[in-house]
Amino acid sequence: MAILVTGGAGYIGSHTVRLLRNLGRDVVVLDSLERADGRALLGAELVVGSIADEALVTKTCREHDVTAIVHFAAYKSVGESMSSPGMYWQNNVAGTVHLAEGALAAGVHQMVFSSSASVYGNPKVTPITEDAEIRPENVYAESKASMERVLSWYGATHGLRSVSLRYFNAAGASLDGVIGEDWSVTTNLIPLVMKAVLGVSGPVQVFGNDYPTADGTGIRDYIHVEDLARAHVAALDYLDGGGTSTAVNLGTGIGSSVLEILRRTAQEAGREVPHDIVARRVGDPATVYANPSTAQALLDWTSELTLDDIIRTAYAWHASQIQN
Ligand code: WQD
Repeated sequence: MAILVTGGAGYIGSHTVRLLRNLGRDVVVLDSLERADGRALLGAELVVGSIADEALVTKTCREHDVTAIVHFAAYKSVGESMSSPGMYWQNNVAGTVHLAEGALAAGVHQMVFSSSASVYGNPKVTPITEDAEIRPENVYAESKASMERVLSWYGATHGLRSVSLRYFNAAGASLDGVIGEDWSVTTNLIPLVMKAVLGVSGPVQVFGNDYPTADGTGIRDYIHVEDLARAHVAALDYLDGGGTSTAVNLGTGIGSSVLEILRRTAQEAGREVPHDIVARRVGDPATVYANPSTAQALLDWTSELTLDDIIRTAYAWHASQIQN
């Protein structure tokens, strides 16, 4: 009995694949390798292909006796989604339809889905609970919300049970420094801060210091990638135990500001982070952080790693990549 992990060569996918294998679970990865090189898989079984190839999905599930799927495969750049929306509708949304069809043809009825807190858009109330209004503000976030609804309808029509995990801000690297994030394709704050403090880029741009927050900069809920990996295992166990379809926030419930990230990074690196204060980024909410109580109640999961663990592991990982 195996777990099929789509997009397992990616950032959160590779940490989840590694944890599943360390727990003795059989894993097979389906990844097109169009946005990852596969090194982070550390030898896990890999089928190179697309989730849109229904016959390949069905064949892989049957050959490996797959009982559940963890679905990471998706494009995830907010900016790219607005300049090339068709890619996101095709790859993310239509791809999920093909994946579900291929899985159901093989008799697979359990799926853990990699969703995003960006489905909430600019929240009216924080901390954010799962019953908050779904108000995507970009095509990427809309594609994630649409994927959730596609899976929900496959539950109604075909008995596919799914857990949509709405990540807040994923960050950090493996505690032992073996795998981490590929900063070459990111626009997220923490890898960009590491580039700046390691001298690989110019000053990091702080998008606004005039928000209605304590220090004027944006607040987010940064969650360690290894905590996220644990949550995916907990969601698989929840479904295996007969759990019904649902959506769950994955966050710490703690908000941290941009300047706090800079300050903690400077402490870790022993030098200031070069940065410039610039205008706000259009569409950025001031404050976003999770109410994580549903994850505790349904999955018996809470975050364990801290912002210092995130900064320490991210700095160590990115510094090691420069030396390689
Ligand atoms: C974090 C904070 C910025 C970059 C994104 C996407 C979505 C989701 C989470 C997957 C904000 C500030 C950032 C920079 C900055 N991921 N910032 N300078 O926008 O909260 O959410 O990641 O689902 O992809 O919604 O993440 O890292 O871009 O920004 O000042 O160069 O850092 O304003 O306050 P965000 P982020």
